[in-house]
Amino acid sequence: MIGRNILRFGQVTSTNTLLRDYAERGEPEGLVIAADEQTAGRGRLGRRWIVPRATSLQFSVLLRPPLSPQNAARLLPMAALAVARTLEQELRLETQLKWPNDVLVADSKGSFKKVCGILIESSVQDDALRYAILGIGLNVNYTMSDYPELASLATTVQDAVGHPVDRDALQAALLDELDHRYRRVCRGESLQEEYRARLTMLGQRVRVARGDQILEGIASDVDADGALILTQGDARLTIFAGDVTILKENKEVI
Ligand code: BTN
Repeated sequence: MIGRNILRFGQVTSTNTLLRDYAERGEPEGLVIAADEQTAGRGRLGRRWIVPRATSLQFSVLLRPPLSPQNAARLLPMAALAVARTLEQELRLETQLKWPNDVLVADSKGSFKKVCGILIESSVQDDALRYAILGIGLNVNYTMSDYPELASLATTVQDAVGHPVDRDALQAALLDELDHRYRRVCRGESLQEEYRARLTMLGQRVRVARGDQILEGIASDVDADGALILTQGDARLTIFAGDVTILKENKEVI
């Protein structure tokens, strides 16, 4: 069960890195490593993940799902949906999802900004998935007005709700929600419809940055594994990773 066993640390390099050591030593799935501070927190695409000490949720979950390496990408929509649902149920926040892994909430001025990022790292051997590490970073009890360089892109739960919240209660609710959804994914249930319904970019013109490559087209759908389908005229491209911005009158808006 996710969260039955939680190890809490004051400071680590990265909860994902530390949990990998436990995974390699054969730890059963469900173990959570949480930290008040990461000195080398990682984001997607080699970026750094830095938040003020003891303000937020930064944790990783060890999973050993009965999925092929190809299907392991399903864990990303699963986690994004669990975060969104928890923020809605616990704090009555309105959420949006941005492909592939960002959860957005409305800040005090009503514009949707990133509040949570998700990083999944997996280990594959002989074409089998050995384990996956699901890392979640949720900005909680601080205000983005102290970080004006980020304030146009990101927000915090405190900014969205208007006051600080109980971090432990939020983490417990999120782990419950993750456990529930993870069981569904392991039973072979699809979360595709629910994910699709929450992706605000579907049907819109987008720009996708994939390494050095920039693609434009209509974000027309997501497939069963959560990959983005980009339509360019008659061509349909399947995008597994990248950064997406929505274009309005050919200007980037998110
Ligand atoms: C992203 O949006 O780029 C993903 C950010 C993921 C951050 C979390 S915080 C806990 C875990 N440990 C890490 O080093 N990264 C993830």
